[in-house]
Amino acid sequence: MSDMPQSVTSARDGEVYVVIVNNPPVNALSWHVRQGLSDKFAEALADDSVKAIVLRCDGATFIAGADITEFGKAPQGPDFNAVLNSIEQATKPVVAAIHGTALGGGLETALVCHYRVAVPSAKLGVPEVKLGLLPGAGGTQRLPRIVGVEMAAEMVSGGEPLSAKKAAEVGLVDRLAGEDSLAADAIAFAREAIAMGPRPTRDRPVTGDVAVIEKLKSANARKWKGFDAPYANLACVEAATRLPFDEGLKFERTEFTKLMSGSQSAAQRYMFFAERQAAKIDGLPKDVQLRGISKVGVIGAGTMGGGITMNFLQKGIPVTIIEMVQENLDRGVGVIRKNYEASAAKGRFKPEQVEAMMGLLTPSLSLEDLADCDLIIEAVYENMDVKKELFGKLDAIAKPGAILASNTSYLDVNEIASATKRPADVLGMHFFSPANVMKLLEVVRGDATAPDVLATAMAIGKKIGKVAVVAGVCHGFIGNRMLSQRQIPANALLMEGALPDQIDQVHLDFGMPMGPFQMSDLAGLDIGWHRDPSRIETLRDAFCAAGRFGQKNGKGFYDYDERRNRTVSAEANAIIEDFRSKSNLAKREVTTQEIIERTIYPMVNEGAKILEEGKAQRASDIDVVWIYGYGWPVYRGGPMFWAGLEGLGKIVASLDAQGIEVSPLLRAKAEKGESF
Ligand code: 3HC
Repeated sequence: MSDMPQSVTSARDGEVYVVIVNNPPVNALSWHVRQGLSDKFAEALADDSVKAIVLRCDGATFIAGADITEFGKAPQGPDFNAVLNSIEQATKPVVAAIHGTALGGGLETALVCHYRVAVPSAKLGVPEVKLGLLPGAGGTQRLPRIVGVEMAAEMVSGGEPLSAKKAAEVGLVDRLAGEDSLAADAIAFAREAIAMGPRPTRDRPVTGDVAVIEKLKSANARKWKGFDAPYANLACVEAATRLPFDEGLKFERTEFTKLMSGSQSAAQRYMFFAERQAAKIDGLPKDVQLRGISKVGVIGAGTMGGGITMNFLQKGIPVTIIEMVQENLDRGVGVIRKNYEASAAKGRFKPEQVEAMMGLLTPSLSLEDLADCDLIIEAVYENMDVKKELFGKLDAIAKPGAILASNTSYLDVNEIASATKRPADVLGMHFFSPANVMKLLEVVRGDATAPDVLATAMAIGKKIGKVAVVAGVCHGFIGNRMLSQRQIPANALLMEGALPDQIDQVHLDFGMPMGPFQMSDLAGLDIGWHRDPSRIETLRDAFCAAGRFGQKNGKGFYDYDERRNRTVSAEANAIIEDFRSKSNLAKREVTTQEIIERTIYPMVNEGAKILEEGKAQRASDIDVVWIYGYGWPVYRGGPMFWAGLEGLGKIVASLDAQGIEVSPLLRAKAEKGESF
């Protein structure tokens, strides 16, 4: 293989042979790395002057896993399991030297080494479950032989890595190296290991109590609902407790193959890349310089403004928060403190961290206090006149170069920008409620938004832990624009004979965290209501006239108890029935399939229109919006990915039958047999 990249090299230090992997950016186990490992270990084993072997990596990290881009393609190079087995069975002691992240197949490589040395900052884990997979190169069989069943079960099913310090406590790391002396420390350890000899993991007994597996399943029942991978991971660890090693490996292989060929893992792997792709902005000059953001202003201390503020305080960025009256300001600041204290009580922050974060917050009643802010985010009442007036004032107050952002969820960002003399500095930063929790940030690019303003907003989004997606200006941007295409037919279905609970249940079974009517109740049915109980033109008017405003007053499409648990409401259903009969609409049976076709297919159609109009950069960005903003189940990969599984032809046929105007892009793709 003369065209093989030199991604694995070797060096000698006396009797120690050092294998070095160098495959940027994350030293993934591409075919040529597997080939290189196989060749170099064979060379080290054949050389009698070699007494011990060290495996280490150049670059930012130890091996971060299998090369995900190779999944689903024709296999090339040596089989990974075969390479690992030959390392484990080496007749000379093998030491892994770990820095950065030893993840997935990377940790599995370290597990077949006889000893592990790591720098204190390293992290070790098996995140395959997050890709809908399991560690398929012996990880589920070897981990319980090193860290015991309890820790192994937790690691494979949760996917969170251990710090090197924790790994040393549980026996996964044999020695912590100096942060800057890993290569030398590992060689020194290898010299000591010559006397200890090889220690194949497969020969070690499985320790610990298998009862932990059932406990994990019940503790995570809600979180894992609908997912296959956590359960498959646990089944493999359970198998390790009762099967001989080689049979355990076979069991693991069968489970791995099932997951790998299924749609859940395909969706989750797609999302891994979709999320990273979303950060890339089309058409941006390469040399764009970011603007510095060291102080933020937030206007509005309500639920949204408060949540937005928390994101920045948590990252150590000072925030000036503005309200119009003292009482509301005090209430907003109080809620922020209460939220932090509740998190501290759960152990997420130390009490002194709460004080430090609150110390970064400056409450004020005066817009003038925003004069020194680098980024100002407006989160006030959703009304164009109010927003334009505010941006006009901000234009006079904000320092030159400050970024002015609106958290509007529907309104025209270009019109808002037109209220200023600096539309290039204006954009939308649309957070999702609760804004300190939800990971999505839609960054809305106005016609005049400057490239550096857009890039800075995307970067600050990443800094505060959000997944930021670029959206164009249109009513509701990406997420809410598609959401309304779900709500309109859901409401129509009520008039044809379905009940809220029936429609919501279809969405819950699909894997959404809540259905359309649960969401309406959460948002409030009285938003935009004309407040005249005698004027009943829509079903919503009928609900408001009956004093059913949603969760906020304990009754909407459902009844709620004081803990906000919902039950089907006879009164609500009677209002629906009454409204329908007065409208002279016939009642009929509505099926699950019809609910899916009527409420989900139009979302796909709207997504295609959004793409066609260039309001989203790519289909996968739309999927990122739905997964991180609305809790679309990641194992279904977002609406555009899911549409491909469902079949675009089937979707187009149904939309045609429903009399819905089909997006030309969607139709063309369906005709060509393509997906998004
Ligand atoms: N395969 C292929 N490409 C990968 C990769 C992998 N395993 N991991 C990361 N990359 C790519 C990313 O797509 C990205 O590419 P881009 O620059 O073109 O967008 C680039 O490497 C850098 O990645 P990040 O932007 O994520 O860099 P960070 O520094 O933020 O994070 C990381 C680094 C923690 C290693 C993170 O990339 C990560 O979590 N990677 C995935 C790890 C993983 O899931 N490993 C298990 C793989 S499955 C497996 O091993 C199966 C086995 O059991 C048989």
